[in-house]
Amino acid sequence: MKVLGIVGSLRSGSYNAQLMAAAAETLPAGVELEVYDGLRVIPPFDEERDATSAPEDVAALRRAVAEADGILFATPEYNGSIPGQLKNALDWVSVPFEHNVLRNKPVAVIGTSTGMFGAVWAQADLRKVLGLIGARVLDRDTPVPLAQTAFDADGALDTELLEAVSAAVRDLVELVRTREQAQPAA
Ligand code: FNR
Repeated sequence: MKVLGIVGSLRSGSYNAQLMAAAAETLPAGVELEVYDGLRVIPPFDEERDATSAPEDVAALRRAVAEADGILFATPEYNGSIPGQLKNALDWVSVPFEHNVLRNKPVAVIGTSTGMFGAVWAQADLRKVLGLIGARVLDRDTPVPLAQTAFDADGALDTELLEAVSAAVRDLVELVRTREQAQPAA
């Protein structure tokens, strides 16, 4: 099973990138996680440009999503919501709407912020957007508050929080398996 990880931060020292690395440590046997690293080069969404010739970087993102069995998002929160660059990328992926590559795709959202609430608003907004796009969204919050103290100097996540991340990963894998049983590969 292939899971694509998408981190909503562009920062080199991103706590959400650390959170994704922590999630990777909890993968069940037989599951691999590939982390997408092209968010920075996705241009501003332009419906006309998509209709004429979609940029190659967008095509690469759509391919990565299409080829994954499930997607795990790790999002920061900016001003109480989803980072603009992540929403922008999802707008590209959402079209053509009737058969976009996220349609029926199992997805889960985790997130961390330096605030007290661990990016819960961004996670809720991201789940809403993913649902509107047509993804099969895991109904679970995984907030990691106070990112600056949640990871130790080696980047290891607090044990209790790691257990919550592990549970989200387990549920995502289960969602993928349920979908595969409902729609066996041709
Ligand atoms: C933030 N941050 C933030 N945190 C939060 O809990 N709620 C919020 O609404 C915001 N808003 C916000 C806006 C902007 C423009 C910035 C730059 C930051 C703080 C944020 O959680 C912190 O910068 C994280 O470290 C961002 O995640 P990465 O880049 O470490 O993954």
